[in-house]
Amino acid sequence: MGYLDTTNELYKEAALIPQDGLCCVTSKSRFLPGLTIPAVMQEMNYGCGTTVHFGDLSHEETILYVGVGGGLEALQFAYFTRRPKSVIAVDKVPEMLDKARQNLELATKMNAWFRPDFIYLINGDALSLPVETESVTVAAQNCLFNIFEQDDLTKALAEMHRVLKPGGRFYISDPITTKPIPEQLRKDERLRAMCLSGVSTYQEYLNKIVSAGFGTIEIQARRPFRVLDKDRYGLSENILLESIDLVAYKNPALASGARIFAGETLIYFGKERLRDEDGRIIPRDIPHPVCQKTADYFRKLNRCDVVVTAPTYHYNGINNGCC
Ligand SMILES: C[S@@+](CC[C@H](N)C(=O)[O-])C[C@H]1O[C@@H](n2cnc3c(N)ncnc32)[C@H](O)[C@@H]1O
Repeated sequence: MGYLDTTNELYKEAALIPQDGLCCVTSKSRFLPGLTIPAVMQEMNYGCGTTVHFGDLSHEETILYVGVGGGLEALQFAYFTRRPKSVIAVDKVPEMLDKARQNLELATKMNAWFRPDFIYLINGDALSLPVETESVTVAAQNCLFNIFEQDDLTKALAEMHRVLKPGGRFYISDPITTKPIPEQLRKDERLRAMCLSGVSTYQEYLNKIVSAGFGTIEIQARRPFRVLDKDRYGLSENILLESIDLVAYKNPALASGARIFAGETLIYFGKERLRDEDGRIIPRDIPHPVCQKTADYFRKLNRCDVVVTAPTYHYNGINNGCC
């Protein structure tokens, strides 16, 4: 049995018997007026953060959600779109799709505005999506891609890039690791399926997303997730895992590379006009969100009339940064 089969088995079990705490969610499910979430759906929240960023969503979106789980985030997305088939929710495990369907039936009884046909549940694989090229404006996955081995992760990211329309957004929530995970643990298929041992580092993950063709990335949250402790997992030291929420845009990278906004801000308080490395004017006395490469450019210049702050990893300004 390969790790993909082990993953299917684990999520079959998690569909048949909801496992509160299978993935430990690091952000609270936010309150939306008029949205009541069935308790079982909440219990089956197998994500690690959130991909539903309320300020970014409009009624017109067509949303692809891969790895539907109990259906919580698909329901939250449908809250915004409210059109038939406006949320396409894919899962590879038939038992999980059945469970999501039942949970959405419950949600129909609890929410007068909701109709099950808003969400098109479909059996499919993240590695080969049953979705047309350039057909969705938003794509999302929560706590699935971290499970994939590197070659499969490349395929899954390429698939998300393929199905998005130009300018479309890909929301990710996934665990990452602060230190490389030893090979013996990476090979543990069950731990991998539980989102614990296949995870990449922050930089590895971003490199993969950029290589898939996404030209702008905004880091929306980065929080502590779990500890792989040395006694339980036979390690030489404890390893802190974090969870990351980000959005990657299907837009072309600049000649100088992709732009990664991680909450770094530049404040210029000098006298003459200041330009960045690409010739754009930096406003005076105004906090100016900058991408990592602009932040690094000014750090190296070490000017006495510029302050560049450290990344906060909580950035949510859509495309209003330096680039
Ligand atoms: C950790 S759960 C996350 C569920 C949901 N996204 C959430 O946040 O609650 C992973 C989900 O991905 C599904 N899955 C596993 N392998 C998959 C694949 N190759 N393609 C699509 N879905 C898959 C599982 O059945 C499960 O529903």
